[in-house]
Amino acid sequence: MALTRRSFLITTSLAAGVAAAKPLSVVKPLVKSAADLRDWAAVREQFDLDPGYAHLGLFYLASHPRPVREAIESYRRKLDANPFLTVERALFERPEDNMPLRVCARIAKYIGGDPNDIALTQNTTTGLALIYHGLPLKQGDDILTTNHDHYVHHEAIRLATERNGATWRKIPLFDSYDGISADEMVDRIRRAIQPNTRVVGVTWVHSASGLRLPIRRIADAIGQVNAQRSAAGRVLLVVDGVHGVGVEDPHVVQLGADAFSAGTHKWIFGPRGTGFVWARPELWASMRPLLPSFTAPELFDAWAQERKPDRPARAAWFTPGGFQSFEHHWALPAAFDFHDAIGSPRITARIHSLNLQMNDELRKLPNVVVYTPRTDGMYAGMVCFDVKGMRAQQVVDKLLEKKIIASTTPYAVPFARLAFGIMNTPEEVEKTARAMRSL
Ligand SMILES: Cc1ncc(COP(=O)(O)O)c(C=O)c1O
Repeated sequence: MALTRRSFLITTSLAAGVAAAKPLSVVKPLVKSAADLRDWAAVREQFDLDPGYAHLGLFYLASHPRPVREAIESYRRKLDANPFLTVERALFERPEDNMPLRVCARIAKYIGGDPNDIALTQNTTTGLALIYHGLPLKQGDDILTTNHDHYVHHEAIRLATERNGATWRKIPLFDSYDGISADEMVDRIRRAIQPNTRVVGVTWVHSASGLRLPIRRIADAIGQVNAQRSAAGRVLLVVDGVHGVGVEDPHVVQLGADAFSAGTHKWIFGPRGTGFVWARPELWASMRPLLPSFTAPELFDAWAQERKPDRPARAAWFTPGGFQSFEHHWALPAAFDFHDAIGSPRITARIHSLNLQMNDELRKLPNVVVYTPRTDGMYAGMVCFDVKGMRAQQVVDKLLEKKIIASTTPYAVPFARLAFGIMNTPEEVEKTARAMRSL
């Protein structure tokens, strides 16, 4: 297998290799100029979506925009032409050709972090599992989470605590969707932290209700608790950020989390089956990897010399090794280039404006209860609601009859959900409002 041939020239720091790297010869420039993408119709044309539908659930799984499709295709051709040499060069030889390093560097540029603090994953789920299984938790430790997180977040906690003996609790951040307050949510978390609490796990944008949490304020409240604690007793903030990344301000490192997991195959429109975890370097150093890595030469060296690794863990140790669908993983930078070409502030403004327009239209209907707040800072890219006397699935079915693709929220009590992204239009909001009025 390829590992035996590697010279593993990759240094333990990304800085040298990636900074010096020339554009990959494999792939030509993929993104239209920013000027081409100034017009939302041009953005929409980048997607191969079936024009017969209003697609209001694309956060579920990305449709690849043209630059991403082209990048995947380009790497696929390269792999089909020469799988051995392509993989050897991209994983095990010169740092400037190393694709995982390049992908980490591109993510870091977008989120405002250090490439060395990023592990590559297949999705949000894998990232959360790597975090919770990797944390140095033990019997007597407590994880605090909320009633509003996704199944995969709670399952990652349950599976990890069943192994490490820690306990976990869920709390509600509000009692009623009518009166959600940022102050109260922050306060509830702060008050629920016990002396043995080591982790708080929350979700940036709830896919149950569309609510966006004030993560920076939660981080600051936890910081106040930590100011009174020793380093060993610190409370860590873990964030499932998948419905914020690609919608909100990209500088997620500034949110103040200790660890952040997101798939890049939803709002980023990256290749399906891609994602990342960013965590503070001190946290990575305290964690234990779950899977063998192919991106950390020191682990291979230690194994070859039949000794334990002689240095603290780092993010690269957590990128799952083994051969992957490389054409997808390596094409991820094209998705970030696409976002940057459109402009993140424009993307945020557009997504907020479309979803607020929908929220306001739904609130005009007497038979509809809207759960997503319309207060600035508390919504992102989706609107969740109920129609009185109808099940959420019936609402979704009725909309589908009118060629509008909505979804139900995958939670114990499902709501109907509409999500407008960069490929949607104000006309689609109006069309959906008309359909809703006829229900
Ligand atoms: C809040 C939240 N977290 C995690 C996931 C799972 O994401 P992934 O498919 O990237 O693992 C979802 C799925 O939509 C979600 O809504």
